[in-house]
Order: sequence, then structure tokens, then C-alpha cells
Amino acid sequence: MSHPLQAAARGPFITLEGPDGSGKSSLMPHLAAVLRARGFDVVTTREPGSTPLGERIRALLLDTEPKIDHSGEADALLFAASRAQHVAEVIRPAIARGAAVLCDRYADSSLAYQGGGSGVPMDELRAVQHFATGGLLPDLTILLDLPVEVGLARKSDEMTRFEAYHDVAYHERVRATFLGFAAAEPGRYVVVDAAGAPDDVLAGAVAALARLGDRWPGLASG
Ligand code: TYD
Repeated sequence: MSHPLQAAARGPFITLEGPDGSGKSSLMPHLAAVLRARGFDVVTTREPGSTPLGERIRALLLDTEPKIDHSGEADALLFAASRAQHVAEVIRPAIARGAAVLCDRYADSSLAYQGGGSGVPMDELRAVQHFATGGLLPDLTILLDLPVEVGLARKSDEMTRFEAYHDVAYHERVRATFLGFAAAEPGRYVVVDAAGAPDDVLAGAVAALARLGDRWPGLASG
């Protein structure tokens, strides 16, 4: 269904990425409000999870108890299983009806954490992402970047397995991998400094939306 504010036949698919504690979940409702004010129906969602199956997989992936070993490959497949269900059940139907989808983490997180962090081979991981998503890529990825120590300190009260059992060097590799993706794909990625004040982070993210203005004219004014 076409939308008055869009030239494209579907809604925009926008992902938020970044190291742990970068403030994605705090930014999300504010960015959703901006999109709604521009006339979009907005679906906010997150990974892993957001479907009944995905929420069960989320618990397997993130719970700190019981403490069980996961290989990087096993993690990659569990995240991908959650993602496959999420794409089929939530993301594709939403963009098909013209809604804007704002998603907290997506395939780039698997490439950064399981690839950059845990050392799973990147080409194989990319093939897994393609299988899980049917090749659905975000139209825009906003990378909230900040120093690892700052992010981990922000999240110290609500730790997942990734914060609890991976060292700072792991998180440094994750951050570097995200920044490498942003440099390699400047057409899709926008880097926003997440160490700044929340209003500045929001302003950076809102400015990034203008990138989509050619396909969704409602987003043209940054
Ligand atoms: P969450 O509490 O949702 O973290 P955040 O608020 O930082 O997004 O936990 C998600 C964790 O899972 C986070 O440490 C990143 C990790 N993760 C992966 O390792 N691979 C993935 O594909 C995804 C989606 C997340």
C-alpha cells in the first residue's frame, strides 16, 4: 500500500546499532516520535526477540544463569533463528504495509559480535544472515558509537551474558568492527557520537533520516 509521504512502494527499514550501553533503547522512542510526527506509522522492535519464538531464544542467548558454554557458531545460529522469525513475522509485513520499522540491532550485530568479537568467519556469517533474512538489508543504519568503558559502565546494573562473560578486548573488537562497516558502507551507515548529550544524539539521528529523503520524501527535511 502506498503512503502519502513515500515514493517507495514500502516503508523504510531503519536499524540502530552500537556497542553495549550506547543508548539505542533510550533513543528509540524519541526517534519513533519524530517519524510519527512526519506522518509515518512506526513499528519499533528489537533483536534478539520480538516474536514468541524469538523471546524464548533471547532467554537462551542472554540469560546469565545457568552459566552454560556457547560457541560463537552456536550463538550465530541462535541469533539468526530469532532474526529469521522476526523478519518473517514482524519486519516484512510492517514495511509491506508502508510502516517505518525502527529496529534495535539486526544482522550487523551478529557480524560485529559473533564475527568481530568471537572470531566466527565473516563470509560464513554473512551467508547465514542472508539465509535468515532472505537478503533483507536496512535502508539506513544509525551506529551509536562510544568508548567501550563508557558503555559498559552505563549498563553495569543490567548485565546480559555478553557484558558479564566477555572482556573489554572483546567489546573493543566489536566497536572496531562496527566502525569498519560504517567506513565500508557510507551509503547505508551514519555514525552518531553516543557519548554526547541525549538531545545531541537525537539530533544526529534525525539528521541521518534525511538520507532517505529521495525514496521517502517525508524524511527529506533533516
Ligand atoms: P541487550 O540487553 O538487548 O543489549 P543492548 O541494549 O546493548 O542492545 O542484549 C543484546 C546483546 O546481544 C548485546 O550484548 C549484543 C548481543 N548480540 C549479539 O551478540 N549478536 C546479535 O546478533 C544481536 C542481535 C545481539
